[in-house]
Amino acid sequence: MSAKAARVGETANAFSAEEDRIRAAYARRVVDGRYSWFDAGNLLAMHERERSALRVLAAAGLTPLAERRILEVGCGTGAWLRDFVKWGADPKRLYGVDLLSERVEQARRLCPAGVTLECRNAAQLGFEDASFDLLLQSTVFTSILDRALRRAVAAEMVRVLRPGGVILWYDYHVNNPRNPDVRGVPRREIAELFPGCSVHLRPVTLAPPLARMLAPRAWLLCQLLERVPGLRTHYLGLIRKPAPGATGR
Ligand SMILES: C[S@@+](CC[C@H](N)C(=O)[O-])C[C@H]1O[C@@H](n2cnc3c(N)ncnc32)[C@H](O)[C@@H]1O
Repeated sequence: MSAKAARVGETANAFSAEEDRIRAAYARRVVDGRYSWFDAGNLLAMHERERSALRVLAAAGLTPLAERRILEVGCGTGAWLRDFVKWGADPKRLYGVDLLSERVEQARRLCPAGVTLECRNAAQLGFEDASFDLLLQSTVFTSILDRALRRAVAAEMVRVLRPGGVILWYDYHVNNPRNPDVRGVPRREIAELFPGCSVHLRPVTLAPPLARMLAPRAWLLCQLLERVPGLRTHYLGLIRKPAPGATGR
């Protein structure tokens, strides 16, 4: 057996318990209407997220997206991948991986032809080094409780990203006291996960319980509350891999 094959086998064994835990956590999840476009709280969050994502992608000089090779790790059913197509990305340059086969199957049904989807642990991406311009992770790291797996996924993301390329990050920075299957990722940990990269994040997303309660009745109030930093539960922003010759953060 080659040294590389042995390393891949060791990595797979090291993470199998956490993979099982993640699969069990998603199997337990109650599917309700909270992520529906017809839920006003979710609509509020999606509008703000889309505006913020478009703003940071444009500010980073990544538009137009048509020529960009883009990978989403933990793509779920492919909602962001379809957003990228709507924003001008070429489906043939879009890739998604997810741990859960049923989600990957659903993404295959929902995404346009040309999008490449794979069921695998993002700790072992089957792509060449430096082969993507842009990566995305959205609420994947909060689903991973094991620190070693978080580090392995982050390292793989950096490996497949070209120098100067960016990771679009959207995730909780706070814990959900009612959901022990997730853990927020604070700014300090994000910097540790991506050593040597520059990290630019800003808090977004009105706390979902508040948004669900208020948005159906008081949309404008929610838009005001969205601006209060202490009521925001997520970070959205970019993590840039240094280009050759670049120094510092
Ligand atoms: C909350 S969902 C978010 C899905 C999608 N990113 C979105 O924002 O719509 C988190 C996803 O991450 C996936 N995931 C968690 N750990 C993973 C890992 N190590 N490798 C690949 N996918 C993973 C889960 O299977 C799940 O589909």
